[in-house]
Amino acid sequence: MQTQLALFAEYPQTEPDLKSGRSGTFVDNLTLPVHRWFRYSAGFAAQWVEQVLSDWSIEPGHVVLDPFAGSGTVSVVCDTMGISSVGVEAHPLVSRICKAKLLWTTPPDRVACFATAVLRHAQNRKPDLSLYPSLIQRSFDADALASLDNLKSSWVSLRDSSPESELVWLALISILRPTSRAGTAQWQYILPNKTKKKVIQPAFAFQQQIEIIKADIRWMQARARESHAEIIAGDARKLAESMPRKVDAVITSPPYANNYDYADALRFEMTFWGDVNGWGDIHEAARRRLIVSSSQHSSRERLRSEDLLESEVIQSIRDELQQVVQTLATVRESHGGKKHYHTMIAAYCRDIGFVLHQLRRVCKRGSRMCWVIGDSAPYGVYCPVERWIGALAMDAGFNRYSFDKLRDRNIKWKNRKHRVPLKEGLLWIEG
Ligand SMILES: C[S@@+](CC[C@H](N)C(=O)[O-])C[C@H]1O[C@@H](n2cnc3c(N)ncnc32)[C@H](O)[C@@H]1O
Repeated sequence: MQTQLALFAEYPQTEPDLKSGRSGTFVDNLTLPVHRWFRYSAGFAAQWVEQVLSDWSIEPGHVVLDPFAGSGTVSVVCDTMGISSVGVEAHPLVSRICKAKLLWTTPPDRVACFATAVLRHAQNRKPDLSLYPSLIQRSFDADALASLDNLKSSWVSLRDSSPESELVWLALISILRPTSRAGTAQWQYILPNKTKKKVIQPAFAFQQQIEIIKADIRWMQARARESHAEIIAGDARKLAESMPRKVDAVITSPPYANNYDYADALRFEMTFWGDVNGWGDIHEAARRRLIVSSSQHSSRERLRSEDLLESEVIQSIRDELQQVVQTLATVRESHGGKKHYHTMIAAYCRDIGFVLHQLRRVCKRGSRMCWVIGDSAPYGVYCPVERWIGALAMDAGFNRYSFDKLRDRNIKWKNRKHRVPLKEGLLWIEG
């Protein structure tokens, strides 16, 4: 079991590489207290966030916002620095996970007590596996699923509105992948046909996770007394409606326009908990709340490029975007899948434009933003996304932007559908 000593030993002593890109650095978070409570493969490095905030002289009394909060890396860092933060996250399960991570002020003994009650109660239950959809049945050994079902139904019957109840739920949801035979692809898509040899037994994984949560809570409580974070389970395209305070700084990483489906990332967890029965339910349950960044999103909503291109928020990039949209509409005819990348890219720019207008309303004059962002090339048609976002930010009323490239992407040509060089980096916006 994880001891506190082991936890400190795990805390990285060396300086992380602050200049590596998003997908490389989130791994660093998986060894850090609280950040490691849920493996969400879309974060940036916590140490990098801390570095940016101190470079900007952001301190207690200031307010930091992440409009695409994900698993809450920015808010957890702000809590360790005593800085107020607001995170907005539209995926209902992701925002719940994010909120749970900010319950680190809970006394660890209460978490232990609740977890023990769940374990005890679970021993007396008879599992009912018949109702689980095939994704779940295929992904676990029968005894592991029986054990998880017992833990789940035990939690369901004991749950209340306490923070410890929610932290124990977080422990349960975070052990699903390590206890499953199914593989996980890059970016967290579940792969039930790719089986793992090594899995952890659920009751053991659960107890281990509770020990980690308790140790991390103690670590946090030794550094800070209260959380100054607010997580809004809502849409960044409308964030001004619910923003409690004016903002001094924004650190964020939006979905990229690269067809990655954030709604699908936690389909496995959502299916286990009965939030969805299968892939077809994901749109209603999550995707429709998110900004458009995948072709399945724009096609499902039957978006029309003519309507999207009329939006006022894309004014300064309209001509260039229109050309890309037209090229994509033509190119798709020669591809079997006929993917709706043309409407995806137009909707993406429109949605990012909406978010930037909201940010202008909530950010103080002279505020600073940093967006971790990458460009894209659907069907090999290049989209200079970072430049477009910079221009949209100027349209929204910010004053300046610049881009620092951190790394090249798509340079390993093998297995790639196109050979357009791509990059990822930091978009700095001020004003
Ligand atoms: C790149 S991830 C951010 C990861 C985050 N930095 C972290 O620490 O985990 C982008 C996030 O934006 C969320 N998102 C997408 N559309 C949104 C919207 N309209 N409003 C708020 N969040 C949204 C996605 O669900 C996803 O979690």
